[in-house]
Formats: sequence, structure tokens, C-alpha cells
Amino acid sequence: MAAADTHEHDVLIVGAGGAGLRAAIEASAAGVSVGVVCKSLLGKAHTVMAEGGIAAALANVDDRDGWQVHFADTMRGGQYLNDWRMAELHAKEAPARVRELEAWGALFDRTKDGRILQRNFGGHKYPRLAHVGDRTGLEMIRTLQDRGVHRGITFYMECTVLKLLKHGDRVTGAFGYDRERGRFHLFKAKAVVLATGGIGRAFRITSNSWEYTGDGHALAYEAGAELKDMEFVQFHPTGMIWPPSVRGILVTEAVRGEGGILVNNQGRRFMFDDIPELYRTQTADSEEEGWRYTQGDKSARRPPELLTRDHLARCIVREIKEGRGSPHGGVYLDISWIRERLPHAEEHIKKKLPSMYHQFKQLADIDITKEPMEIGPTTHYMMGGVLVDADTQMSTVPGLFAAGECAAGLHGANRLGGNSLSDLLVFGQRAGQYAAQFANEYGGAPVDPDEVEAIERAALAPFARDGGENPYQIHHELQDRMQDLVGIVRTEREMTQALEGLHELRARAGRVHVAGNREYNTGWHTALDLGHMFSVSEAITRAALERKESRGAHFREDFPRKDDAFGQFNLVVRKKADQTMDIVRRPIPEMPAELQRVIKEQS
Ligand code: FUM
Repeated sequence: MAAADTHEHDVLIVGAGGAGLRAAIEASAAGVSVGVVCKSLLGKAHTVMAEGGIAAALANVDDRDGWQVHFADTMRGGQYLNDWRMAELHAKEAPARVRELEAWGALFDRTKDGRILQRNFGGHKYPRLAHVGDRTGLEMIRTLQDRGVHRGITFYMECTVLKLLKHGDRVTGAFGYDRERGRFHLFKAKAVVLATGGIGRAFRITSNSWEYTGDGHALAYEAGAELKDMEFVQFHPTGMIWPPSVRGILVTEAVRGEGGILVNNQGRRFMFDDIPELYRTQTADSEEEGWRYTQGDKSARRPPELLTRDHLARCIVREIKEGRGSPHGGVYLDISWIRERLPHAEEHIKKKLPSMYHQFKQLADIDITKEPMEIGPTTHYMMGGVLVDADTQMSTVPGLFAAGECAAGLHGANRLGGNSLSDLLVFGQRAGQYAAQFANEYGGAPVDPDEVEAIERAALAPFARDGGENPYQIHHELQDRMQDLVGIVRTEREMTQALEGLHELRARAGRVHVAGNREYNTGWHTALDLGHMFSVSEAITRAALERKESRGAHFREDFPRKDDAFGQFNLVVRKKADQTMDIVRRPIPEMPAELQRVIKEQS
């Protein structure tokens, strides 16, 4: 075996966003030794992009809220493909996780009587998002990081995992490299928790930063775990579109929660034009009623801008395609209009949406208190991921756990805004608890030196080639194909073309060449990320081809309707013995009568 720094932990966590940190804290509290591998610097995680709040039925603003309503909203938002047990646990446990975060030092905005303030978000029946202005994810990471560091957890920053190690069926650790020196690292562990977040960098327009290349999804798949719901990629309806350098950066849903409206180039509030059947009874039918809802009138119904993200993104694309878009190819999101309604609107906007105010002022020279923003959809979140047991978060591979965005189940076909942060807390905690339990029960297992050597050889191969493909070029072409052929609106013809393209690109990626040395070589890092992005992109495309209907975030122009037959199963992706990808239909287990009753009562 060539030289690699070796580290040993009971539980290894891959990823240091909300889910990874919460899992690490829990495992460490159980008394086991914990190591956290963090692709970037500690504190830099996509969790901070969930700006508008954490969804939890605390019922601080509307006492009609409760776990039952949250459960029913989450299931409806996910078009009933959700793992109902995960949705139940999530709705029941989120309030305790938020209170715990507060006890650990998180500061929230307050109601007049001093409780955690909650705001409106799409698809949530009542104001449910505990928040800190529009910086909630940041506050959450700050608090968890502080807590984790003080528990004595070991962090390996700027370290990327290339492969999981196995002994027989079981996971025994991971192998990776550090970006700074380019040295290899061998992590021996009794249990591994994947918490690597999303896959956004496989698309051209995304709110995700460079780290989100589907690592956890691909590592699990390569280790023999099953992936689920890979066809469901969330395109957040509101990303910045201008200037080009900031395209894709998130514009929080909190803008709409605070009264922001969507208008086309004719000044028309187009979201009133198309209200989905599932939400008809819950949606306002006039501007007046929508505004009253925003102002807390309990007899009013939600404005149509608070419909689910999948629907909004499609309506925006329709406006653009039909020639009613803004000059730079988006539509307008306007919060400044509330000046007509509120006496101190400018101060109100700056107080509630401080980051958005600064983001637009500094990056686009737009004062959002006075002018509308130009926005368009951006690849934001992956509903699909590692198939896990709802209670323990263990995957189909013993000792391998997953939590947060890289795990599947809670969100079904579409995630509601704010359910990501509560997901990280609830299932991060569970993953940490059960990973520690697994480590205590099963102990360690040996690492195979030949396996390690093979990973090293493959990782260094791009240096050894004399000329070849450019990794950045391959990445750009991959992003273009996924964006243009497997994006918001899909067809069989385009996705078949995408698959062929992926096949050809993957072959070229096998000939990629990098120059220079191993220290901070971003070309080499990109070359190593490509494999993960190819696995994930292929899984998305194959699953999307297989789902011949439109549901949630997956819209097929050639099958534009929802088909009940497709509502009976999830699509599961797994690796066959011949190394090719297999897609199977896995029936959704019947929901217990008690939960069915809850859904009926809430509809
Ligand atoms: O719009 C937002 O603030 C994003 C929230 C989320 O993705 O949960």
C-alpha cells in the first residue's frame, strides 16, 4: 500500500452540513469516537442555502397547527410517494429538534410574546417556519458547529472521499484525499454515515456550490446500496438570473412568504391562472385574500405564490417560453409592491430579508425595496437518494447510514421549503444514534490493502496520461446535457439523447489528463468528481425515462398527466453484478389506518 494517513473512528461521518453535524453530535453523545470528513471548510455547507426557515409544527403563530397537519402537508407536497413512516417521524420530532437547537444557542426571530416566530412557506397550511430573518441555515450551522467542536469531534477539512471500503457485505471505512496537499487518507470505521448533500453541480444552473457533486449518492451506489426516487430533482422557482456571473444563486422563498408576488412582462400576476386540483380549496382566489393571509388573517387562504415549488417552476417556464418573460429570460419577483399596503414597507423588507436586500444591491445593483427582481428556476435540491430504513437511517448495506439530502424518502416527488432543515435535524439525530449503536454492537472489520491500492492507482491515473481530455470541458458538457435534456420539462426523445451523450462523455472522462502536482490541483479534483456525477446523472435519467407520467418535480411533456398506476411504487436504482444500472419498481407499503385517517381529516 502506498503512503496514506490512517485514521480510526467508531463512526465516520462523511459531510459536515446540518445532517452530518447533527449525526456527529448524537454519535459522540453516545460515547463513541467520531470523525467528520468535510469536503470544504467547516461551516461552508449548502444548509446555509435553506434561508427562509425550519419547518416544525410548534404552533406558535397559529394554534391550529400540529404534527398531523405537517404530516399531511408533507405527504401532499410529495404527491404521496413519500416514505410515510419518515414523514410521520419528521412531523412528530421536528418541534423537539428545533427547541433543542434553541437550547444549544440558536437565536430565532420572536413573536410579540417572546416565542419562536414562524412564517409562511409554500405548501405549508399554517405559518410554520422557525426563522432568523433570511439566514436560518447559517444560524443552524453556526450552532451545530459550535456544539460539535466543543464535544471533541475530530474534523478532517477539505477532504474528499473517493470510495467506501467493505469487508464482505459490511462497510469498514472510506478512502479519500485532502485538497491542500493531495495526500491520501484511509479512514477505518465501524459504521459510516453519508451526509454529503446534493447533486446540483451535475446541472448548469444551480444554487449549489462546487462541493455538491452527488458524492454520497454515488459512493453508496458503488458500495451496493439502493437509491430511490432519483427522477425527482427540485428546481427552486426563484434563482437570480442576472448578471450572468450570479445566475442560479438562490432567492429565498421567504420573499414570497413575506408577500412577494410573481409577475410577467405584462405586469400580470400569472400564478392565479393555474391552481392545481390538490390545492384548489387552500388557495386564495383574489389578490386581496392572499394579502390578508400574508398578514395573518386566519380566515383567508394562501396566495398562489405559496403553491409548491414544482408547480411554480413550471408556470415560470411557461411564461418565459410563451414570450412573457423578463429581458434576461426570467420573470419578476416583486416584494416592493407591499409599499402600497404597509406604511413602513422599506424597513420591514430590510428587517425580514436582510440577505436578499444586500445580495441584490451588491450583485445586481437592484434595490428590492423599490424594484422587482428578475428570477428564474435553479437546480436546488435532490429528493432522491440512498434508500434507508425510516427509523434507523441504515441503508441496504450493513453499517452504512445516510441522512439529509443524500438520503431518500421523506420528500417523495417534491419537497416543501423548510422541510430540508427539519429533515437534517430529525434524521441526522437518528442516523448518529443508530450508527453509534451499530458500532458498539458489531465492532470493527479488516480493510483490504489490495482494494486500497486499486483506488490509489485509479485516482492517480490522470497524471500518468500523456495528453488527453480536459476535466473542466467534460464537466461543462455534462452540465449542459443534464440542464437541456433532463431539466424541468422532459421527453423520451431528449432523455434518450442524454443517455447516449452520458455514455460517450463517460468514455472520454476515462481519458482525462491533468498536469501539475498533487497540491491544491483543482483540475485533478474535478477529474475525480466526474465519476460521481456520471453515476448520479445516469440514475436520474434512467429513472426519469422509466416514470412515464408527470408528478411533483418530474414533468414529462410526452406524459403530461399523473397516472395512478405510477403512484403505487417508487423507482429503485441498483448496480447489477455486470456493473450496469438496474431500475426496479418497488411497491409502496400500505399506510397504517391511523395515518390514512390523519390525511383524510386534513384534506
Ligand atoms: O427558499 C429557501 O429559503 C430555501 C429553503 C429550502 O430549500 O428549504
